[in-house]
Amino acid sequence: MGMFIVLEGIDGAGKSTQARLLAQWFEKRGYEVVLTKEPTDTPFGKLIRKLVLIGGKEGIIDGARISHEAEALLFAADRAEHVHKLIKPSLEQGKVVISDRYFYSSLAYQWARGLDLEWLVDLNRFAVRPDLVILLDLPVRESMNRINGRKIKTEFDKIAELQRRVRENYLKLAKRFEEIKIINALASLEDIHNDIVALVQHEILGEY
Ligand code: TYD
Repeated sequence: MGMFIVLEGIDGAGKSTQARLLAQWFEKRGYEVVLTKEPTDTPFGKLIRKLVLIGGKEGIIDGARISHEAEALLFAADRAEHVHKLIKPSLEQGKVVISDRYFYSSLAYQWARGLDLEWLVDLNRFAVRPDLVILLDLPVRESMNRINGRKIKTEFDKIAELQRRVRENYLKLAKRFEEIKIINALASLEDIHNDIVALVQHEILGEY
């Protein structure tokens, strides 16, 4: 069996950069790495971007906002495909799978939307548990500064209040799921990378 590592955090925390750096670190050590993300780039992920992330304006549901439950189900459907078609087969082939977001995003964001946490946990029970989840924790003010500089803004990016709830939710989830380890995402890119590598070595590889 391979290794399954997930990066989580609010928008602007630096997940994709750190996922890439971690993938390179593993590759240099001779591991076969699958770098992936949610929402995925499959038709499911694209549907989510259309319906959820741009508010449904150009989506199938003509101008209407979809319900929070439908949103959660779409993210879960995308994830089911992700787990069955990519994550599980890659782990069975002994690869290192690094995912930028996973079901913890659904728990943190859809819970923040007002859905019931236990329903969300049940809905995502099919999702294989990662060996390690790195939560890149960042104050919301810093997150807003960073994402305001991005060209494409999702609906979520604009709402600082939602980000605040999402951050709190992540911190609560870290108490419930022992695989979640918190890293301070205010540090420099290099320091964060080193912290992540130290965690991987300690928690999964048993090196230190
Ligand atoms: P993001 O990581 O920003 O993707 P990209 O940069 O490729 O557009 O994810 C898009 C948004 O979707 C982000 O604000 C978090 C949200 N999201 C959920 O609400 N639930 C989920 O289950 C996932 C995976 C993401």
